[in-house]
Amino acid sequence: MKAFLDALDPEGVDCALAQAIDPARLPAHIAIIMDGNGRWARRRGLPRIAGHKAGVAPLRTAVDTCARLGLKALTVYAFSVENWKRPRAEIETLWRLLRHYLRAEMPEMHRNGVRFHAIGRLDELPRTVRDELEESMRETSANRGLQVNLAINYGGRAELVDAVRALVEETRRGQISSDVVIDEAAISARLYTAGMPDPDLLIRTSGEMRVSNFLLWQIAYAELYVTETLWPDFTRAELLRAILDYQKRDRRFGGIGAPAQSTADDGVPEAVAVPSR
Ligand code: FPP
Repeated sequence: MKAFLDALDPEGVDCALAQAIDPARLPAHIAIIMDGNGRWARRRGLPRIAGHKAGVAPLRTAVDTCARLGLKALTVYAFSVENWKRPRAEIETLWRLLRHYLRAEMPEMHRNGVRFHAIGRLDELPRTVRDELEESMRETSANRGLQVNLAINYGGRAELVDAVRALVEETRRGQISSDVVIDEAAISARLYTAGMPDPDLLIRTSGEMRVSNFLLWQIAYAELYVTETLWPDFTRAELLRAILDYQKRDRRFGGIGAPAQSTADDGVPEAVAVPSR
């Protein structure tokens, strides 16, 4: 945290926000639905592709910020299993941008100790894209800092289908016995995110109040943060604000959490005055 603060302009807003963050209560894992590239471009009279290009810089900043804060994982939604419905030229541009991003960011990923991982049905991607993803995973596999998961040709339902298929296949091969109880741990261990903590905070840009088939299993108890900001305008300051907002939340995980209001002797909460409108 100190190294992160030292790297920021002491007079700037990022530094003031970062100083307000409690380093003991950072989210271990942040997930982001990077939405609004198309609208950002349209508002400027530009082709949608220009929005995706403008979306690269905030991605770089988000990775850098999470790595320097010492988080365990950042998962970003780059391409969903439904995104094949987009125009072919747009899809091709996304692949080109991805290849360029991975090559250009490699030195910075190493400097920040980032381990890169791609999640999704990678076998359905064009060969060149798959090769590049695999090469980046291999190249960063020894890094021990932030794990960046790029969700690509990803769908939350598809991931659950794949996990169940894996269980069935392992049973068929006799790798697990058919009378073993299938529990939540058995499913989690077969998700693309196996071994990673679930996201604590899910951020969605561009104001849409949807989960869009992203990490359906893993976000069961994630705190949601939706901002009207379009992804190309998403700054480090806004990411720090999302973390500060997260730190104000009372996470109960289905329990009752810390006492937030006084209770009468019988344990029943006293009436809470609701201001009339
Ligand atoms: C959503 O905006 C964004 C995407 C589908 C792609 C995300 C891509 C980037 C952030 C650029 C970096 C790319 C890679 C692959 C590293 P949208 O097009 O759905 O926006 P709209 O809802 O306004 O149309």
